[in-house]
Amino acid sequence: MNNLIIKNASQVVTCSGNKGKHGKEMSDLHVIDDGTVIVTDGIITQVLKAGVTIPVNENDYEVIHAEGKALLPGFVDPHTHFIFGGYREEEFSWRMRGDSYMSIMERGGGIVNTTKATRDAAENELYELGKQRLDAMMKFGITTVEGKSGYGLDKETELKQLRVMKQLNQSHPMDIVSTFMGAHAVPAEWKGREDAFVNFNINELFSVVAKEELAECVDIFCEKNVFTIEQSRRYLTAARKYGFKLKIHADEIVSFGGAELAAELKVLSADHLLQASDEGIRAMAQSGVIATLLPLTAFSLREDYARGREMIDNNCVVALATDLNPGSSFTSSVPLLFALACIYMHLSVEESITAFTINSAAAIDRADCIGSIDVGKQGDLILLQFPSYKFLPYHIGMNLVETVIKKGNIIINN
Ligand code: NIG
Ligand code: FE
Repeated sequence: MNNLIIKNASQVVTCSGNKGKHGKEMSDLHVIDDGTVIVTDGIITQVLKAGVTIPVNENDYEVIHAEGKALLPGFVDPHTHFIFGGYREEEFSWRMRGDSYMSIMERGGGIVNTTKATRDAAENELYELGKQRLDAMMKFGITTVEGKSGYGLDKETELKQLRVMKQLNQSHPMDIVSTFMGAHAVPAEWKGREDAFVNFNINELFSVVAKEELAECVDIFCEKNVFTIEQSRRYLTAARKYGFKLKIHADEIVSFGGAELAAELKVLSADHLLQASDEGIRAMAQSGVIATLLPLTAFSLREDYARGREMIDNNCVVALATDLNPGSSFTSSVPLLFALACIYMHLSVEESITAFTINSAAAIDRADCIGSIDVGKQGDLILLQFPSYKFLPYHIGMNLVETVIKKGNIIINN
């Protein structure tokens, strides 16, 4: 019935707010001790302090007694590539022998390898795989996820990926925000004609994707030997004219000026940023571009982590994401994400939680309706099996999520 009371949670970790939080603001989670939250028709209608009388008829509601458990907003994962065919376990083993991610990509592996398998996969096969992956994310407390195309690199397969996400958004409890990423890599048939491939995306795909409402955002892999700054500027500027929100994979492998471009274009979010320059970090903070950091990718590629601490100290809005994909980060592990963000990127526990709730909601332009426990927001909530949010990065690698609530419905009861 979508009517739910979560009573006397040891902590209601509200993460209160309706936009991305900069720098120091990220430290305050606005916790209410022994609080109660009421969800009516799927929307949060009351956030009550300890001892306040419940102002509704409890008979109309399902009641969860949450003593000894911390209540948080559902996690928001703002960067994944969860629709793909095939796997790349061989490439992981090559990397462990010393090959680099880019050298594997340059000899026809990497994204192009997954592109072959995704082109070959039937739409219903991608749907089933996508569903299984969403189910796995949900168990970790993720209630909204962004997903990108970019393993088609031709019209038919790019649209196939986006259609699968649209269907899953309708049938699965999880909310999905779709991103078109036609410029994820240059496929073999366009090698040496990169500018023409960018034009192909602009001229042949943006209009179809916009018209059929298959994606809200557009993204590009701006990187040495993939797409240049100039190509990225052209592609993103054209995407904006179609009304898309803009994202960019920036400064992942080398310092390339991606963060600076992100600031110049005032994109919604710049992601990865392992090699972002000092100037790029300052420019992003000033222009309000969200820095979406992906520590699981740095871990998996054995690269140095993005400078999360310095970004927050420079007043950036920092978000976190898993980057789930079959190559550089084949994981949806939220517990490992929190541990790495705190231990290696030097975020405080509070900052890391802000980064995966209200700030990650902001990174997909949803901070007005999810990402915090505030009256009027969607009833997307998680209950931990421990009394404090501080267990999240501390109990390393363990899934602490006991109950997942989506729009007031209990969808997971671990
Ligand atoms: O975000 N860097 C580009 N894209 C993905 C990896 C995709 C893949 O390797 O399949 C990323 O890391
Ligand atoms: Fe990515």
